[in-house]
Amino acid sequence: MTDLFQEPNDATPLAPEEREGLLQSWITYRADLNEAEQENIVKGANWARRSRRRTVIGILNDEFVRELHKKMFGDVWNWAGSYRQTERNIGIEAYRIPNELGALLGDVKYWVDQETYRPDEIAVRFHHRIVKIHPFPNGNGRHARLLADMLIELLGGEPFTWGGGSLADVGELRKNYIAALQAADGFNIGPLLEFARS
Ligand SMILES: Nc1ncnc2c1ncn2[C@@H]1O[C@H](COP(=O)(O)OP(=O)(O)O)[C@@H](O)[C@H]1O
Ligand SMILES: [Mg+2]
Repeated sequence: MTDLFQEPNDATPLAPEEREGLLQSWITYRADLNEAEQENIVKGANWARRSRRRTVIGILNDEFVRELHKKMFGDVWNWAGSYRQTERNIGIEAYRIPNELGALLGDVKYWVDQETYRPDEIAVRFHHRIVKIHPFPNGNGRHARLLADMLIELLGGEPFTWGGGSLADVGELRKNYIAALQAADGFNIGPLLEFARS
């Protein structure tokens, strides 16, 4: 499976290797895929809003993390909700995903319990660490932003604005977002905290 992230153009037909696992045969162009994914994500977000597991402990476990991904992408991709098996240019080695994700979820629960950071910073650090793990073949950014939004709401805050526009398009906004993630890699969480509320 190719990483879909680099693809530039909505009018580009999807290559055969990009169609691996695609459940809807009408999808031909990248624009079709974006549309199908977006519709699925709206359904997934609605499901998340109603979920009985909408508590801090309920969402900070690997079962919920996978279920949420499946609800967001499972109408479009047969691998939705399953951890990645192959390497990507972003993310840790695939075999380490279950362990590293478990450790992260433990850390976040500890931060909440101990009030290690203020709520925004807990949710934004969670977002940064989970996209760095990159648990799924695709959809990691959108999934990790929804998870961070769910967590901040459960901690009493408003959902984030994430720059206030589409991060799917290659543009200034996405560039700033990636730069903020890279600053967080260098232990400077400030830019990502600011970006999430911009
Ligand atoms: N250098 C980087 N380039 C692109 N994305 C990055 C980079 N570093 C981290 N990311 C994260 O990975 C996400 C892209 O991964 P992907 O699985 O394609 O998610 P999505 O399909 O939701 O955009 C970005 O939204 C961002 O959160
Ligand atoms: Mg992608």
